[in-house]
Amino acid sequence: MPFDFDAWSDDRRARVDGFLTHRFGDAWPVSFVEPLRYPLFSGGKRVRPLLAVAACEALGGDLKDVLAPAAAVELIHTYSLVHDDLPAMDDDDERRGRPTVHVQFDEGTAVLVGDALLTEAFSVLADALVDARTRVKWVSELARASGYLGMVGGQVGDITLGASIADVDTLVRVHAMKTGALIQAAVVLGAIAADAGVNELAAMATYGANVGLAFQLADDVLDADEDAGDDGPPSFVRLLGADETLRRAHACVDEAIAAVAGLPSPDALVALARFTVSRTV
Ligand code: IPE
Ligand code: IPE
Ligand code: MG
Repeated sequence: MPFDFDAWSDDRRARVDGFLTHRFGDAWPVSFVEPLRYPLFSGGKRVRPLLAVAACEALGGDLKDVLAPAAAVELIHTYSLVHDDLPAMDDDDERRGRPTVHVQFDEGTAVLVGDALLTEAFSVLADALVDARTRVKWVSELARASGYLGMVGGQVGDITLGASIADVDTLVRVHAMKTGALIQAAVVLGAIAADAGVNELAAMATYGANVGLAFQLADDVLDADEDAGDDGPPSFVRLLGADETLRRAHACVDEAIAAVAGLPSPDALVALARFTVSRTV
């Protein structure tokens, strides 16, 4: 029977959402529960948690062992968006068709929501009911991918180099850190949950790097109209044109799939790689 990606992703997304709902049921002051949950349950695609689950399942791992890292990467992703939208950064009023956190509540609350989600990501990993060695590996990988050598570094590249980026290599580097590092970490954390060996981790890292770049290339095609104009951000479409950007995205997907094709159960990883370029949002 062909792999049913929609059924698989609906089921796994529900499991991850259940985990997150349980985790954020309470806060003090109680009024903080709403802003804390607001960006977490607002229609995100949950691509990163699904990648973590798919990587674990590709190696025969158990869903219950991967829910913590799947949730943790989504918490980091969500915090990064809340801070990214702040007036001091991209100053965006809307995300996923709703007011951003600082617009819906206020700036101080948005800073603190981001801080809380970031901190909670590591708490979730540390609290997971798996052996301590696995938890330390998760924390180490996620910290590196999220920090100044990963996502934060990419954001710094974005705001300091910004419009001056005029070559594809620099743009690839910024995106590999800004978006790619966390996507790759999602896959690697999922593989660690299944006790991956060295070769399996290397295959997952290659898959993750290619899916991360494909995701960004596809994003630039999706955002091409919005990003056009003299004051738009640097983008692959601007530097390469839409056709070449899409061609490169497909090439990355092929390379990602080739890296994991020999694993025991790669169906969800293969479907997710394809989804990164076929998605419409
Ligand atoms: C958007 O990521 C921001 C980038 C890192 C490019 P997603 O497209 O995964 O965002 P959501 O979570 O589904 O809204
Ligand atoms: C957001 O990047 C990426 C991170 C927060 C790491 P962008 O600024 O390019 O994406 P959008 O347009 O806000 O989703
Ligand atoms: Mg932004």
